[in-house]
Amino acid sequence: MAEPIFYIATMSLLLSSIIPACAIDRHQQQEEILAVVRDIQRANYFTFATLINMVQTSVPSNITFFMPDDRSLSKIIIPEHNVLKFLLRHSVPSLLPFTELSRLPNGTSMPTDQPDYMLKVSSNGRKELYLNNIKLTSPDICKSGPSFRCHGINGVFMPALPIPAPPKPSPPPPHHSPPHAKPPIPAPPPSPPRRPPPPPHPHHAPVPSPVHPGPSPTASISSSNMLPRARAWLCLLSLSILLVSIY
Ligand SMILES: *[C@@H]1O[C@H](CO)[C@@H](O)[C@H](O)[C@H]1NC(C)=O
Ligand SMILES: *[C@@H]1O[C@H](CO)[C@@H](O)[C@H](O)[C@H]1NC(C)=O
Repeated sequence: MAEPIFYIATMSLLLSSIIPACAIDRHQQQEEILAVVRDIQRANYFTFATLINMVQTSVPSNITFFMPDDRSLSKIIIPEHNVLKFLLRHSVPSLLPFTELSRLPNGTSMPTDQPDYMLKVSSNGRKELYLNNIKLTSPDICKSGPSFRCHGINGVFMPALPIPAPPKPSPPPPHHSPPHAKPPIPAPPPSPPRRPPPPPHPHHAPVPSPVHPGPSPTASISSSNMLPRARAWLCLLSLSILLVSIY
């Protein structure tokens, strides 16, 4: 008779320790990012603050933002489904106050939160710092909370130039073939030999992709913001395991 009661008591004890842990974690993160956004607004980086607000719950913690000023951001178009990607390209996954940034050797390359996008730090020897040749103009703007640092810059980090096309032009299959798809692609009909393939890319600088009311804002979520998600799933998982074992 005493056994099931003991069992349930143990389970509720476990539950009561896990539920607040999950809740506080999320709550604190939310509070902190709100405080950081206020810091950013106070420093007049209103557009960047708005971008953070748009994807607040997906922004990873323990990062340093490099924030283009309003004037730079007014010159570009960021489609809604690219906002997170844009922010990740303007942040690095570590806490770097200006004192630490300025200690990096001239020419250091830092990975950003966007996979494969690097920032090269350089200085002109007069305490002025540049990231990919864009000047850091306002150091240490974010003062609230331990999980974010941020600095103002006077330009925008543009997407990487497309890598020069490899010699063999084998386009990837346009879609994943379903399990019962037709047999492999039949031999293509002989194409007229006089039409060369179109040139891979024009030579002007890449512009942000056109405004596209994309239906999938989460399509570009990168590995760096998997952590909060993974933790949330873990919380859910442990909760459901506990619930299942109770009943
Ligand atoms: C941020 O860093 C602190 C201290 O290093 C660590 O305790 C915390 O778990 C980190 N948070 C995230 C979300 O990675
Ligand atoms: C840092 O490197 C750049 C070239 O990348 C050079 O122009 C500059 O003078 C260097 N600064 C110092 C302080 O050596």
